[in-house]
Amino acid sequence: MKKPIRVAVTGAAGNIGYSLLFRIAAGDMFGPDQPVILQMLEITPALSALKGVAMELEDCAFPLLYDMVLTDDPNVAFRDANWALLVGAKPRGKGQERKDLIRDNGPIFVGQGRALNENAAADIRVVVVGNPANTNALIAMSNAPDIPNERFTAMTRLDHNRAINQVAKKAGVHVTDVQRIIIWGNHSATQVPDITHALVKGQPAPQVINDDEWVRNEFIPTVQQRGRAIIEARGHSSAASAANALIDHVRSWALGTPEGDWVSMAVPSHLGDYGIPEGVIFSYPVVCKDGNYEVVNGLEHPDWVKPLIERTAQELLEEREAIKDLLNP
Ligand code: NAI
Repeated sequence: MKKPIRVAVTGAAGNIGYSLLFRIAAGDMFGPDQPVILQMLEITPALSALKGVAMELEDCAFPLLYDMVLTDDPNVAFRDANWALLVGAKPRGKGQERKDLIRDNGPIFVGQGRALNENAAADIRVVVVGNPANTNALIAMSNAPDIPNERFTAMTRLDHNRAINQVAKKAGVHVTDVQRIIIWGNHSATQVPDITHALVKGQPAPQVINDDEWVRNEFIPTVQQRGRAIIEARGHSSAASAANALIDHVRSWALGTPEGDWVSMAVPSHLGDYGIPEGVIFSYPVVCKDGNYEVVNGLEHPDWVKPLIERTAQELLEEREAIKDLLNP
């Protein structure tokens, strides 16, 4: 048997957790012959709910689920972890501004960054999902000085998948016919979904779609606002699709991207050569191989896209300013 992979999941009793854990245990994340140990972190009041989730996981009798850890202590959850999926965060309250959310959730990622630094395995890889995901990833990274910066990422794969779906629908093709979509920047309404370099059935997407008006005034806002549209329709934020995107993010990183395609991942900004200020976590196109990723550099932006990219970078700088006291000097 292969050595089990230790996967730490925070916020494990939450909505995304409930869609995520069963798929990890079923082998969707690391493949059908890779055993896993789930190390699940929750806040103390949610431990009883977490116990219920663990009972259900047991009742699935998953052949690949080797062991489980349930805890409210990040030092226990991250002990020897190979992967840390940081999903847990407080949701935005009624009438709460984004900047209040940043101040509420930021401290969680100081403690978790430190606990990762002290306890995780040498090959630890981190994905932050809890919002504001990019800035939370920056806080965790900054508080884990012994872990290489490029191991910290934030998830923009849900936005990426949403963009693929919109392009496939518009072009009248299947989602597998759409490649090289890009999400630039922040996982927020300023993100820049971009089809400039995308392919539809191997042909340049802008030519196949041939509708600039749609790209600027429908495609981009639809992807940017999709999360809100789902909350309005469902009464709850996206959970199953977010869990699915997290499976995709880790799977691509661990097992590689298909030849000729790329995916979007928010990573330390200095890895890209697009003139983004250093010291933020910025979504770029990346190719993955053998557990590593590389930013696809050297792509040209059309003139009208440049200010959009500047705006999302500016928003990340403002978020960083709001939590600068939480960054390790
Ligand atoms: P939820 O509220 O259902 O679950 C969050 C869980 O985190 C709760 O069980 C809570 O007890 C736990 N939690 C809170 N503080 C914690 C801490 N310090 N340590 C460990 N656990 C903690 O929320 P849901 O729907 O599961 O979403 C989780 C996060 O993911 C939210 O911040 C949401 O905004 C974000 N999200 C991000 C997406 C992305 O594309 N990056 C997409 C969808 C959601």
